[in-house]
Amino acid sequence: MRIAIINGPNLNLLGKRETDIYGNKPFEVYLDELKKQFPDVAFTYFQSNIEGELVDELQRVGFEFDGIVLNPAAYTHTSVAIGDAIAAIKTPVIEVHISNVHAREDFRKLSHVSGKSVGSIFGLGMKGYEFAVRWFIDKN
Ligand code: DQA
Repeated sequence: MRIAIINGPNLNLLGKRETDIYGNKPFEVYLDELKKQFPDVAFTYFQSNIEGELVDELQRVGFEFDGIVLNPAAYTHTSVAIGDAIAAIKTPVIEVHISNVHAREDFRKLSHVSGKSVGSIFGLGMKGYEFAVRWFIDKN
């Protein structure tokens, strides 16, 4: 099974960035744990701070892979293009947010991604990625 993990802007700073909200762990460290936990899953990981690159990656993995775990970060709340890309591809997407976006500023309550995704997970920390992967495995 092939699963793509895609992270949006500023998530390259996990472990350093607003650690009270996002925790102390760099994503690469978490990804290694995830790979060990799911040895039968072939993961790809892509992070970008650039909206169009995230659209390109969704299109690249969106027809062959079994699942996409997507945290579009701030673009969640602004990007019609990422929402349209999810609608355009065949691979199902699960939207993940580390923090509880509904318990923060009002602008974080709008998502251009939720309505195009099979489901959304928010507020469960990095574990959200694990739960999303588990869903893709269990659904088969
Ligand atoms: C985030 C929530 C977004 O509102 C924010 O812009 C992020 C991270 C999260 O994982 O909690 O950068 O997607």
